[in-house]
Amino acid sequence: MSQEPPSAADTRERQPNETNIRALVEAFYRRVDDDPLLGPIFARELAGRWDEHLAKMTTFWSSLVLGSKQYRGNVQEAHRPLEGIEPRHFARWLSLFLNMVEARYAPAAAVQFMEPALRIAQSLQLSKFGWDYQIPAEQEELLAALKRQRTGGNDEPRFPERPAGEPFPARFVGKPVDER
Ligand code: HEM
Repeated sequence: MSQEPPSAADTRERQPNETNIRALVEAFYRRVDDDPLLGPIFARELAGRWDEHLAKMTTFWSSLVLGSKQYRGNVQEAHRPLEGIEPRHFARWLSLFLNMVEARYAPAAAVQFMEPALRIAQSLQLSKFGWDYQIPAEQEELLAALKRQRTGGNDEPRFPERPAGEPFPARFVGKPVDER
């Protein structure tokens, strides 16, 4: 058994809105900041600019998920100058993000964040590591599974099966969340 049916005790957000997106962004970057692998990169790049980054990321996710605010930026260009980024950084970023989204949003809302995150992570990895870079199969499989769920009917999306207690993305992005 790996997935609990929805219950009255499920307090996860069913509908993304600007307030809960802002809360997601703040919680995610607090988690990133604490992470031994990602924390130093963000600390180095965003010293003195965290507020600006959090506001920008709230606008970014609101644009994608709510179609409301206009994000004006270039995601590829923003990551191009970053030094020392390896595949494991993407695996960790995805692991933290997907896990946090699953904890905060009911599945139908969660996929609205997860699918673009995986898609954009793929294009960032291809531009960082070369167009012949092989995206980890787990990431491709998860993206394909989420797409099928979104387009496959009216049912509440069901995430791929996993052993009880295993963090959501671990099996799909390569490494357990707490593996340093
Ligand atoms: C290895 C994984 C990643 C690292 C280390 C990373 C790091 C960063 C850093 C340091 C910035 C700030 C750049 C600056 O303002 O100087 C940034 C911006 C940003 N990141 Fe990432 N990122 C990662 C993955 C992702 C992914 C998967 C997404 C897709 C959702 C994403 C979306 C963005 C966006 C939208 C911005 C703002 C771009 C702008 O300035 O308009 N990042 N990232």
